[in-house]
This record gives sequence, structure tokens and C-alpha cells, in this order.
Amino acid sequence: MRITILSLFPEFFDSPLASGLMGKARAKGVLDVSCVNPRDFAQGKHKSVDDSPYGGGPGMVMQLDPLARAVRALPEPGRILMLSPKGRPMSQALARELAAESALTLVCGRYEGIDSRFEELFPVEPVSVGDFVLNGGEAGALCLLESVARLLPEYMGKEASGEEESFSSGLLEYPHYTRPEEFEGCRVPDVLLSGDHARIASWRREQSLAATLDARPELLAEADLSRADLSFLRALPRAKPGRNLHVALLHHPVMTGERKVGTTSLTNLDLHDISRVSRSYGVCSVFAATPLEDQRALAESLVAHWTTGPGAAANPDRAEALSLVRIVPDLETAVRELARETGRPPLVVATSARGAGTITVRGLRERLAGEAVLLLLGTGHGLAPEVLDTADFTLRPIRPFGDYNHLPVRAAAAVLLDRLLGDHG
Ligand SMILES: C[S@@+](CC[C@H](N)C(=O)[O-])C[C@H]1O[C@@H](n2cnc3c(N)ncnc32)[C@H](O)[C@@H]1O
Repeated sequence: MRITILSLFPEFFDSPLASGLMGKARAKGVLDVSCVNPRDFAQGKHKSVDDSPYGGGPGMVMQLDPLARAVRALPEPGRILMLSPKGRPMSQALARELAAESALTLVCGRYEGIDSRFEELFPVEPVSVGDFVLNGGEAGALCLLESVARLLPEYMGKEASGEEESFSSGLLEYPHYTRPEEFEGCRVPDVLLSGDHARIASWRREQSLAATLDARPELLAEADLSRADLSFLRALPRAKPGRNLHVALLHHPVMTGERKVGTTSLTNLDLHDISRVSRSYGVCSVFAATPLEDQRALAESLVAHWTTGPGAAANPDRAEALSLVRIVPDLETAVRELARETGRPPLVVATSARGAGTITVRGLRERLAGEAVLLLLGTGHGLAPEVLDTADFTLRPIRPFGDYNHLPVRAAAAVLLDRLLGDHG
């Protein structure tokens, strides 16, 4: 494979390209890497490669002319990848895709970046190595280069060492150990000393699964998983992310029309669907709050039918979901009950289709790691201002930038629980 790096600092690559496997692969001819400095293509007395930005602002911008000349002079540019924070995230899948190419050109920006018209003139693919900003594209180009190179046949000493690594099977890798067996009181896990290869393989698989669920759960959505993997994952405590979350469906005080605050009737479907979604995500309880005594009695008999009555025998899964439901007269009772059970009042977070919210999903995920949260869902036209104003936070709405976000409460509950507790990393 031929890789050309366009960089104003080619010396940056001297040592990494000469070290270890990379140095050997280049010596063997597995990989042909060369650096081209756009400065060598700069015109004029000063060989300038940057200029101040149109529109003002700090920093300098890399000029088009030297870069365009440098790219046009390449005998075989192949796919042109420009390192940029706005690019497609670098991943093992992208490395695999690029390893199938015969030539790549890596363009490294510096200063504030490259004049945007570069992307109009050439078929450039921006690639990011993470949500952070580097001084220049060189460090990112090295990451890309190494991840691609080690997938080339003959790059690695032993073919197998690439196959079991993190991401290769869609999972993070299991932990490694080497001599001595014990170091400062830390022992190598016994199974690795057992000589039982089947046990070692299954231990490693489980370690991989557990590490992935813990650190990068979103990878599991794409990983190759067997039935045995699934039952192992299911049994891990981390598989119950909703251990601190409680949901309350309020029927009062809610908006019952334009500027009218009132009480709504209980809806059978709401109780079924919200408790099923809650059970699926490991939510601890689903409060249904209504001040109307007859509605509470109705709800109690409905829940009893499914949890202890004929419904439970006919549909045990439904019984499991509906047993999360707790009928209360109002929000204050739900808060009081949780405070008694958990030792302190929960963080009360309201939801609304309007405004920007005072906490984001990520912010709430962080809070959820350490404290009980009561997430309020409104029926009718949504929670009344008095609830929104007294809650600790209001969660940023679903689709706050769209021109329509009037979701039914059951759908909103499903979307929010998935965002808060789903395997998104
Ligand atoms: C100081 S950065 C420019 C940052 C740019 N002004 C911005 O805010 O997005 C200079 C160069 O570093 C490279 N770079 C910085 N962070 C990167 C990242 N996360 N992934 C890939 N390249 C990056 C790019 O080539 C970029 O043009």
C-alpha cells in the first residue's frame, strides 16, 4: 500500500515511521510511506503557506495554492483523507475499509485548519480521531496510518494477534497478564494458570463481554453475540441501568387545554406500555398519580387483575411489568415514599415538549449514576407550570429543534428511557 502524508511538519513522522513493526513493514516493502510538504509547492519569495482568515478572528488558515499544487503533483493519491475534527469518526471498521485500498493520501491541517474550498476542489474525505482538538493533523494521521497498516497482510508477525484484539469481533479485548504470577499482592486469575484451554477461552470471552458492557455498551448493538453471550450479559448487574430511576405519570396538575390546568383520566394503555418499557430498561417504579379516589380504585383493580388476578396467570410477563406500578394521590406522596425508601428525596426531573430544558440527557445520566431520580411525565397537554417550576430540573425535550414534537406520553417515555438507560455509551 502506498501512503502519502501531506504535512507542514514531515519531521513529525521520522521516529514513528522508523520504530517497531512500522519500521519493519516499511523495510519489507509491505508499506510505502512518504511525506510531502506543501511548503515545497509554495510560490513567492517567502514560500508562505498560511494567511489570516477572511471575516477576521484569531489564528491563520492554510492556503489553497500550495496544497492544491502538492496534491496535483502526486502520482497516485488514492483516497484523499483530511484529518479534521468535523470528519467521520475513525474506527476499526474504517481502518478495515481503508486497508483494502492500494493508495491513500493523508492531509494534515495546521493553524485554524485548511481553506474550505480545498474540499470543493478535491474529493476529500474528512476523518476525525476524536472529539477533541489537536495542534495539527499529524498525530491523527499517525493513528489512522497505524490502524490501517496493522491490518495489512504480512504487517504483523503472527497473523492471529490482530484477530483477537479489541473491536475485531465488535467487543473490547479481555485483560492480559504475564510473569510473575503475583506482584505486590496482585495475582494472575487462577483460570489462566489452569492449562484448561476451553475454560480460558470462555473466561476471556466473558471478560470481553463484561468490559464492553461496562465501558462501551453501544458496541454490543453491532457485535456478534451467541445465546450464551446474551445470558451471561443478562446476569451482569450492569445490565440493569435503571436501578436509580423512578417514573411518575401525573394526571394532575396538567394542562387540559390552552392555559387550563386540571385533571385527566387514567388511561389503561399508558399504564401497560409505560410499565413494560420501564421493566425492559430496569426502572425501579412507575408511579401513577391521580387525586381522584375512584380513578385510584380503578387503577388498583386494573393492576391487581394483571399482577395477582387472572391476568397474571395468563400473561406472567405483563404481571412483571405492572408490578412496578404504584398508585398515589399526588407527586408529593411519590417523593415522600422514595425519600423514605432511599434515605433522601429523589432528584425530581420534569419533562416538557417546550423550551431548551435545564438538564440534558447526558447530564441526567451522570446524576443517575449516584442518586435516585424521579422522572415526571405529564398526561393531557403536559405538566402544569407549577410542576415545571418546582422540579429540580426540566429535561431537554425530545426533538427540541424540530417543527413538530408532540409525542404521546407513552412514546415519549420509551424514547426518554432509551436515551437515559439505553446502551449508547
Ligand atoms: C488546531 S486544529 C484546527 C481546529 C479547528 N479550528 C476547529 O475548531 O475545528 C488544526 C488541525 O489539526 C487537525 N485536528 C485537530 N483535531 C483533530 C481531530 N480531533 N481529529 C482529526 N484531526 C484533528 C486538523 O487537521 C486541523 O485542521
